[in-house]
Amino acid sequence: MSQQKQVTLMELNRMRTQREPISMLTAYDASFARVLDQAGVDCVLVGDSLGNVIQGRTTTVPVTMDDMAYHVAAVHRGLQRAMLIADMPYLSYSNPELAVANAARLMQAGAAMVKLEGGSQIIIDSVCALTDLGVPVCGHLGLTPQSVHQLSGYRVQGRSKDSQQRLIEQACALAEAGAAMLVLECVPVPMASLIQAELEIPVIGIGAGRAVDGQVLVLYDLLGLAGKHAPRFVRNFLGTSGSIQGAVEQYVHAVKQGDFPSDDESFLE
Ligand code: KIV
Repeated sequence: MSQQKQVTLMELNRMRTQREPISMLTAYDASFARVLDQAGVDCVLVGDSLGNVIQGRTTTVPVTMDDMAYHVAAVHRGLQRAMLIADMPYLSYSNPELAVANAARLMQAGAAMVKLEGGSQIIIDSVCALTDLGVPVCGHLGLTPQSVHQLSGYRVQGRSKDSQQRLIEQACALAEAGAAMLVLECVPVPMASLIQAELEIPVIGIGAGRAVDGQVLVLYDLLGLAGKHAPRFVRNFLGTSGSIQGAVEQYVHAVKQGDFPSDDESFLE
């Protein structure tokens, strides 16, 4: 098999500048990672959503560094082209020293970037420490599942004036601290669009509409495993494609064409 050119930060920035939407999906093992890679997914995220979809938990809070390092190493073995991004789990980055030590484990397991949730000063300090040491960081704002108890559930963020102001300030602070990418989860389209316009780094949405630089979904949701209470932004691509490889290819195509998410799959206000 010929070796494919790996997706780099430079390539992701080129895609952003040339308005070519970036496709991202989660994976947790080598076999699915291989399918995603061959379907042309640009970034593969080993999300701490593995706590929900692999371990059957109701939140991501119990996911550990050992869990993440194990799944990152497995996914790494399945990839040739896609960039591997690894979630830092609950409270594994609550000060810069801890963040650096834990990010080192994930980078040594095969990640090319780590993702962490939130934008308070503690997080900004950790992002600064990581980027100063050459570790690419992806921020995650909006609905941040590790804070589910503080947020009183999985709900759309950025609807009140206060929350909108905080989101913009935190997005700018993350970019200023050196974050190379930002995931925005469950925010209304006008808010996502404003943040995309404000930042000079790729902004990837999940439940954030189409006016961003790319999309991410949990793989199992795309394969129709979200159950009866699938969030609005989930589309079952397996139903229309008939195979896992076909479903992932359809997802990539829909993202690249700007056909996903539709308005019905977004929070318009
Ligand atoms: O853990 C995860 O899968 C994520 C995505 C939903 C963005 O953070």
